[in-house]
This record gives sequence, C-alpha cells and structure tokens, in this order.
Amino acid sequence: MILAGLAIAITLLAYLVRSARALHRKVNRNADRVTKELAAQTGRIKTEMGHVYHQFEAVEQLLPLLKLSAPLPPSRGWAASPDFLLTLAHVTKKVKPRLTVELGSGLSSLVLAKSGAKKIVSLDHSQEFGSQTREMLASHGVRGVDIRIHELESYSGKYKWYAKSTFKGLAKIDLLVIDGPPSSTNPDARYPALEHLIPLLSAKATVILDDVDREEERKLADAIAMALPNHRMMILSHEKGTAVISPKTGR
Ligand SMILES: C[S@@+](CC[C@H](N)C(=O)[O-])C[C@H]1O[C@@H](n2cnc3c(N)ncnc32)[C@H](O)[C@@H]1O
Repeated sequence: MILAGLAIAITLLAYLVRSARALHRKVNRNADRVTKELAAQTGRIKTEMGHVYHQFEAVEQLLPLLKLSAPLPPSRGWAASPDFLLTLAHVTKKVKPRLTVELGSGLSSLVLAKSGAKKIVSLDHSQEFGSQTREMLASHGVRGVDIRIHELESYSGKYKWYAKSTFKGLAKIDLLVIDGPPSSTNPDARYPALEHLIPLLSAKATVILDDVDREEERKLADAIAMALPNHRMMILSHEKGTAVISPKTGR
C-alpha cells in the first residue's frame, strides 16, 4: 500500500517535473519571440520618429518661404511630404520656371504658386481631389493655377494616363513635377510621362519626381535621366525618396 502510494507520488512528481520543463521551454521560446518582436517594433518606431523629426525640420524651413494666409491641409500620406515640398520650393525659386507642369495636384500646386512659378498647369485625373485643390488654392488667394481635371484616357488599350487634350499644345516646360497618377490606377502608372512630356521640356528644364523609393517611380526617374544626357540626377533621401533631374551646368 505504502509502495503503491510512493509509486504514484513518484509518477506524479516525474509528470510535474516534465510539465514544468516543457512549460519552461515554451516560456523561453515565447520570450525569444517577444524579444525579437519588441526589437523590430523599436526599430520601426525609431525610423518613424526619424521621419517625423525630419518633416518638422522641413516644415520649419518651408513655412517662412511661403507666407501663407490660410491653413494648410495635412501633408504626408497621399499628399506630398514637407521634405519634398521644401525641395520643390527651393528648386522653383532657383529655376524661376516660365512654364511648370505638374502631374497630380495638391499641396505641391500651392507650394509651386507661392514659390513664384509663373504659369502652372496641373493635371489631375480625379474630379474630387482636383476640385479640392482648386478650393484650397482659392482659400489661399492663389489664382491662375490651371488645374486640368480629366479622367485617365486609354492609350490604344495598352495603358491609361492623363488625357491628351489636357497637355496638348504645351511646349518648353521649364519645370516638370511628377507625383501622379496614383500607382493604383495602372501598372507603371507614371511611366508614360517619359513618352508624352519629356519631349516637351525646354533645354534647361528641371524634372522632380516624388516617391522614387518605390521601384516603379525609380525606374521612371532612371529612364528620364537616361533620356536627358545633358542633365544629372540627384536622389534625395526623403521620406518617400525624391529625384531632382537638372541640367549639368548652369542651374
Ligand atoms: C500623390 S497624389 C498627388 C499629391 C500632390 N502632389 C500633393 O502635393 O498633395 C496623386 C493623385 O492622387 C489623388 N489623391 C489625392 N488625395 C487622395 C486621397 N486621399 N485618396 C485617393 N486619391 C487621392 C489626386 O487625384 C492626386 O492627383
């Protein structure tokens, strides 16, 4: 009887020891996973804080250049980020473009106008967002930015891009800003700018592209730089990546 009781107690003890070890191993495995996940999250938070800090730096420099009379809509996300807008303002002031063409209207249209761009033609495929830009510009007392709203047009069924009628007749573009159409509209959505607008540039034109951290937009920037042998390309490590393609000499 005593022996049987002892055997049961030993079996129970062995079971408890095995269970405790298994639990220990499981806790260790989970702790490893949690530690790795925490390290990854910490890395992501640090990166995001870096972006936020740089955007504050950019906003601080941008606002005195613009002398605004109304509130700005939110930047980042769909809208351009402050670091891109600051570059846009500086390039515009330096280049003093007679004709600026912009693909994808928004905050960038306001920054162009407030930085002294003379004639601005901005193409937008969206009635909703193009109209919002018009209203925003009006609230800032900016007149004369020609926002041309038209749904994307099919080019021989191969791709859709801004309608021909919206850029027909444009020539000697001094500043081309590529921030549309959205990549969700087409594969390589912005690539047709190479065929349709690069031939319309003036000899000393500057081209600025947003989002070149994305493969498609970087491919377009590289192709434009290749098509303009007298220009050089600078890639700025902005939040979304900015390419500035400008003449090798002069500007
Ligand atoms: C990247 S956005 C252009 C942003 C603009 N350059 C700026 O500085 O704000 C490209 C296009 O997306 C569209 N768009 C703007 N805001 C949007 C939103 N919240 N959701 C979906 N599309 C949007 C507009 O039609 C715009 O022409």
